[in-house]
Amino acid sequence: MRGLLAGECDFIANAANFCSLLYHSLPDVNWVGFYLQRDGELVLGPFQGKPACIRIAIGKGVCGTAAERRQTVLVDNVHEFPGHIACDSASNSEIVVPLVKQDQLIGVLDLDSPTFARFDEEDAAGLNELVVIFLESSEI
Ligand code: SME
Repeated sequence: MRGLLAGECDFIANAANFCSLLYHSLPDVNWVGFYLQRDGELVLGPFQGKPACIRIAIGKGVCGTAAERRQTVLVDNVHEFPGHIACDSASNSEIVVPLVKQDQLIGVLDLDSPTFARFDEEDAAGLNELVVIFLESSEI
């Protein structure tokens, strides 16, 4: 990821390549993308996968929950998550990592999988490290 983002600081360009690398290198994921904080709500950003819902309120769904708490949220079974927003009916588990830079909520990174309990704490740690690399490389 460092190599892919090296030498470029455009946020959208780096976000697009970030999603593509994750989507094509991680097994068993059907959606990888960003929701970006715009005027107090989350708006769909660069992603890989099927078309998705465009706007998510802070506090709603898995993405809005991670944004509100500013914490990574791991969901083994999205169908049991209160308020889960179904975009791709193939999704069964999900992980959402908040993007926080200088105490500002920039947005969230969202990954979906058709496999239940696809993501674990190791994925959470790795994705958080990758998000740091992305935020260091990219100008908001
Ligand atoms: N499932 C998410 C919505 C986004 S899609 O998964 C791409 C949620 O509940 O916030």
